[in-house]
Amino acid sequence: MQFDRACIIGRVLGVLCHVMGWLAPMYGAGRLESRNIGEYETAARHARDCGRDDLTDCLLTMAEVEWEHEKYFRSRVLVHPLGRRLPLWSMPAPKETIRESFAREAEGTLELVEA
Ligand SMILES: [Fe+2]
Repeated sequence: MQFDRACIIGRVLGVLCHVMGWLAPMYGAGRLESRNIGEYETAARHARDCGRDDLTDCLLTMAEVEWEHEKYFRSRVLVHPLGRRLPLWSMPAPKETIRESFAREAEGTLELVEA
């Protein structure tokens, strides 16, 4: 199901390349990358919650990588004259907050367990 959705999005963006140039794919990619940040953070929390701490660092690293991708695509959209006029997706929180919030939650969980 997720693969079908990705294929459809990819094909639509591919067609739009011929109509709008590179703006549409950059815009679409930026939106997708923005969502991916949160999805990797959520995956890291699920990994922690089910005892797979060995996976959390990798998943948080992927969230950080997606944060960099979102930054790149946002910057590309903003250099395009039409892109500057488009409403952009929400700006993600600073990159450092990915691990900070995860660590804060872990501390809170430990405090609950110790209490
Ligand atoms: Fe990415």
